[in-house]
Amino acid sequence: MDESWVNSAERIGADLHLELSGPGGRRAALIRALREAVRSGRLAPGTRLPPYRSLAADLNVARNTVADAYAELVAEGWLTARQGSGTRVAERAEPLRHAARVPWKAPPRARGPRHDLRQGTPDASSFPRTAWLASYRRALQQAPNEVFGPGDPAGRVELREALTEYLARARGVRTEPGRIVICSGFAHALRLLFGQDRGGGGGVLRGPLAVEAYGLGFHRELLDTAGVRTVPLPLDERGAQVERLGRERAVLLTPAHQFPTGGPLDPARRAAVVDWARARGGVIVEDDYDGEFRYDRKPVGAVQGLDPERVIFVGSVSKSLSPALRLGWMVLPERYVDGVLAAKGEREAWVSVLDQLSLADFVSGGSYDRHVRRMRQRYRSRRDRLAAALAVHAPHVEVTGVAAGLHAVLRLPPGTERSTVKAAAWQGVALDGLAGFRHPDTAMAARDGLVVGYATPSEHAYEAALEALCGVLPPGE
Ligand SMILES: Cc1ncc(COP(=O)(O)O)c(C=O)c1O
Repeated sequence: MDESWVNSAERIGADLHLELSGPGGRRAALIRALREAVRSGRLAPGTRLPPYRSLAADLNVARNTVADAYAELVAEGWLTARQGSGTRVAERAEPLRHAARVPWKAPPRARGPRHDLRQGTPDASSFPRTAWLASYRRALQQAPNEVFGPGDPAGRVELREALTEYLARARGVRTEPGRIVICSGFAHALRLLFGQDRGGGGGVLRGPLAVEAYGLGFHRELLDTAGVRTVPLPLDERGAQVERLGRERAVLLTPAHQFPTGGPLDPARRAAVVDWARARGGVIVEDDYDGEFRYDRKPVGAVQGLDPERVIFVGSVSKSLSPALRLGWMVLPERYVDGVLAAKGEREAWVSVLDQLSLADFVSGGSYDRHVRRMRQRYRSRRDRLAAALAVHAPHVEVTGVAAGLHAVLRLPPGTERSTVKAAAWQGVALDGLAGFRHPDTAMAARDGLVVGYATPSEHAYEAALEALCGVLPPGE
């Protein structure tokens, strides 16, 4: 804490709110009010009271009135007065015990797992605090005054320009700032595209929507709430079987890295799904949730690059920086821009404009690239350590989906997934089983497996997490 602040607070004494009312004049009223403040605990033992002069000015009473009231309360034992240290609440002045005045205590927080290997979050300890702060400071210093007024729902143009350049270079996205709408992440994008509730308010797309047979349950629930029926597309080793698309109006895909099974969408299928959209007047929603993190294979560009008028490309910083920032972007075909802006509202109500400007600086100044490169190396090393540990301790467990992203899928013998997840929980290891990601209506045969997020533990906790994981895997034949 800033020393000078503490000292000056000490010197001037606490600011004090007192109501002077009741019979017997100002002096008696002040004594009653001060006594009550001490008795109730509002003034804690040891609190320094304001000097006569300032309290008298605050209350509009004579200085002597305050001096007399203090003296009376010193005599009664509520206050103490010492040369040079002013008048304070006596240490032994016991506050009245009253249930309503017991200081508020935070409810006990549920203790998290000892080892968190659930997919979902990047390594929080690697958030680039210094670089982000530098971007934030620059953004704040350079921001024109209008930034502090209501924000444009499209998002700040500085950010849309920075993203246009970055997404073209890093993800093969073809766009221009006028077709980008800033949002608070993929979940927000889904709400803007499909509306928020069954009433069908807002939104530019209607169901039924084809989705991958394995995907994030949270997104399915969100669509369900919006009244959108989802139709599962089976998956194989080449990704979603897009040749099965039928009457749906739209399809939601994770082409760079199928979530959660891993693996890119096969090039022939990428072309085929674009052909489907052109022939049927359909649209592809491309969820590029971790497209930056690729290790062993050639970069997989966005499907959006194949036909910007048929693909809605959505990305966010949730995997690359932090899901706490709630910052994302939608790259839209021209015909959807106005509808999405209308769904967003007249003013920016979701994403802090200062955060948008900070991200613009972070991206255009090269910090985003540097951070992604650093994290790519770190996650790659984690992925390698996971594979090495499994090769030694559980060679019978097949690891898939590891060429990219922040998670791997461990295939388990049929019928062992549930018991493994349960046994892991007993050992303090949090894991997701594949079953939780399976679309309830899919006819695809269920696979037993674990989705292991290797990004979440901090660097120093990772080795122990791997050891714990290997200890809970079912034994080989
Ligand atoms: C499949 C998938 N899509 C998108 C996201 C990003 O979601 P959001 O941007 O809403 O945080 C995630 C999680 O980070 C995800 O797992």
